[in-house]
Amino acid sequence: MSYNVAIDGPAGAGKSTIAKLFAKEMGFIYVDTGAMYRAMGLYFHGKGITPQDIDKIKEGCKTVDVSISYENGKQLVWLNGEDVSKKIRTEEIGGLASSYAVVPQIREKLVELQQKLATTADIVMDGRDIGTVVLPNADLKVYLTASVKERAKRRYKELIDKGMQVTIEEIEEDIRGRDYRDMNREVSPLKQADDAVVLDTSFMNIEEAAKALKELFEQRKDA
Ligand code: CDP
Repeated sequence: MSYNVAIDGPAGAGKSTIAKLFAKEMGFIYVDTGAMYRAMGLYFHGKGITPQDIDKIKEGCKTVDVSISYENGKQLVWLNGEDVSKKIRTEEIGGLASSYAVVPQIREKLVELQQKLATTADIVMDGRDIGTVVLPNADLKVYLTASVKERAKRRYKELIDKGMQVTIEEIEEDIRGRDYRDMNREVSPLKQADDAVVLDTSFMNIEEAAKALKELFEQRKDA
């Protein structure tokens, strides 16, 4: 039997960094579901199809192919046979992803893919609806969060380190907008699963948060 760990939370809470560290230490596979929504955003936006164009999205979902593979433990994202792993890592695509993530047809398609992946190995999966919709029977569900100010500070540093020109005010506004869309959409809004453990990382560094996650898993596994 394989273990499933589900991590949900708002943008910039540190989900992916912490999940990656956990996966490495525990020999789990890390599944980044946000990357799949980013690929969908890239695809439909590139085709000039808006999130309101439901008929065209329905059609597009029948043929678009999003998949993931692993190279030396690193997740690669493929869109219709093209490796888009790097292309999807911009703030613009992050925002687009959250606009298209409100569309039920897109969610259905990706949830099915994610559920299939979860049966293949020990996995830690992060996103917005993992504990509530994708893996309701996960062995451990964590809701990872941090204050808006702290999340904006982290994201700002990350982007400045990458050489991008942004202001902290812009980033904070972007995070607030994304939180609002993610938490208030009709389908699978971001919310804490009833049986999730809350981990607030506002005052934790990455190592401390990863250690806390590992401890939670060990307790759960042995329970
Ligand atoms: O890295 P960051 O937290 O900024 O974003 P991400 O995890 O790459 O996800 C991008 C967007 O995809 C989010 O803002 C969500 O709107 C959407 N998403 C979702 O709806 N459900 C998921 N399971 C994962 C992401």
